Amino acid sequence: MQENEKGRRDFMGMALGACAAVGGVGALYAAKRSWDPLPSVAAAGFTEIDVSGAQPNVLNVEKWRGKPIFVLKKTEDMEKDERDVIVGKDRFLIAIGLCTHLGCIPAYKDGEHKFKCACHGGEFDASGHQIFGPPPSPLVIPPFKVNGTKLVLGEEGPEYKKMKDAGLIA
Ligand code: FES
Repeated sequence: MQENEKGRRDFMGMALGACAAVGGVGALYAAKRSWDPLPSVAAAGFTEIDVSGAQPNVLNVEKWRGKPIFVLKKTEDMEKDERDVIVGKDRFLIAIGLCTHLGCIPAYKDGEHKFKCACHGGEFDASGHQIFGPPPSPLVIPPFKVNGTKLVLGEEGPEYKKMKDAGLIA
């Protein structure tokens, strides 16, 4: 009798685990669809993103090593910044999309050209500088390399090294 009861509980546990796994896959799929609007290829710690189709002032949220990566093509009239990543004729903000206060994902307000963090009200401008609230530092720039119209995340290209030497990388 007891054996049966144990077997039943084991089965319930497995069934619940299976449900959780299926839910997880569904969630991952949904995240992949909304997080990956630009063509990208991920392999061995690198993510290559083709930014040639990026629209100005539209935030693309990519994924690199499990982290959200903000890719924002700047409009002509957005202020030039030393953190701008130049790809062809265009300027981009490339940053890890985690608030430097406690790690929430800030939302981009395209009408205001700024990121707002819902957790404690922190704000960042379109270059990733903290401009309001508790965030202690700018959004972090991930290692990147510019390769034609593509960005390779995870590789330290000359542009990234220059920023690093200038102390712009947290
Ligand atoms: S986590 Fe963003 S303001 Fe606190």
